[in-house]
Amino acid sequence: ETIQWDPEAVGKGEYPHFMLKEIHEQPTSLAQAIEGRLDVERDEVYLGSFPPGRFEDIDRIQFVACGTSYHAALYGSIAMNRSGLQTSVHLANEYSVCAPPVDERTLVIAVTQSGETADTLGAMRRAAAGGARILTVTNVIGSTAARNADDVLLIRAGPEIGVAATKTFSAQAVMLLLLAQRLADDIVGEAAVGGDSMLADIRALPERFEGVLEDGTAKTLAESYLESQSFFFIGRGLGYPVALEGALKFKEITYEHAEGFASGELKHGPLALVTPDTPVFAIFTGQEDEKVLANAEEAHTRGAPVIAVCHEGHPATDIADGHLEIPDVDSSLAGLLANVQLQLLSYHAADRLGRPIDKPRNLAKSVTVE
Ligand code: G6P
Repeated sequence: ETIQWDPEAVGKGEYPHFMLKEIHEQPTSLAQAIEGRLDVERDEVYLGSFPPGRFEDIDRIQFVACGTSYHAALYGSIAMNRSGLQTSVHLANEYSVCAPPVDERTLVIAVTQSGETADTLGAMRRAAAGGARILTVTNVIGSTAARNADDVLLIRAGPEIGVAATKTFSAQAVMLLLLAQRLADDIVGEAAVGGDSMLADIRALPERFEGVLEDGTAKTLAESYLESQSFFFIGRGLGYPVALEGALKFKEITYEHAEGFASGELKHGPLALVTPDTPVFAIFTGQEDEKVLANAEEAHTRGAPVIAVCHEGHPATDIADGHLEIPDVDSSLAGLLANVQLQLLSYHAADRLGRPIDKPRNLAKSVTVE
């Protein structure tokens, strides 16, 4: 059985599309997601049903997810690696064929907005049969994933009607950052996910999102590159899942060809595709930015327009043809603000192209077949 949100009951309010409404709801949905879950002064994270020590006996973590949730999982996994946790990330539909070993000391984290994706539920069943502990990060209480998991972490993003996931991605990523800190406390014995200010920066995140949402640059940029042949998105570290998500959103709703790459991989193949007709959106999170910049410059030298997604005054703006601005925040969060700019870019490009946006052809909000 699938729990469906009712679009009529939810309503679009003043917005022409659910997607735009949901993009703009992010300050509220993030505030809801973190409500009561962090204590900045004590640098502690409280995740209701997970008392301290709950994950002490875990020695490895495997993520399973599909689509946008897979990108959030990758984001969470990188944050967890940085805090000393051993993780791997798997597309849920590849999990049974790749068959990574699991045992009772394995925590499998299934990230699924709907809690009903058949691929993800299948991966959860396989992991449970191998004796793993299952935790799901989901938006839907009472979903199949929530009912089948040992532990549930709700992202509290509220109903999402647009097929292209937006506010649930940011809520998933933030909840995974908090979970990373909790797991690091239990398993590694220390929390070192982001910089010292990460929790304070997370608390300020809703306001930061507001700031980015007020910026009209993405709309103008979307219009100026509409005739392009392909759209490339590059990033490194936590910028990499954001590059993948930027490209996924773009292809889902504009029907234009878009690809996301780890910026360092550009020279290992994709550079052959780069021409003046392929704008490259480069995401700068504050970690090894000089390397991302060198990769962006390689594309720029070959005539590609480069659009830098970075804070004001960043060295990338010197070479870039366009700039999508984000505030200068902890590198664990910069990618999430960059993602808001890319959500707006995709939305406005799709809108200019007259695409249906909330219901792209051939796609479903929740795919309940394998
Ligand atoms: C479908 C949707 C995607 C979504 C994916 C995973 O393909 O179109 O937007 O990311 O399913 O959904 P889930 O509910 O498991 O996060």
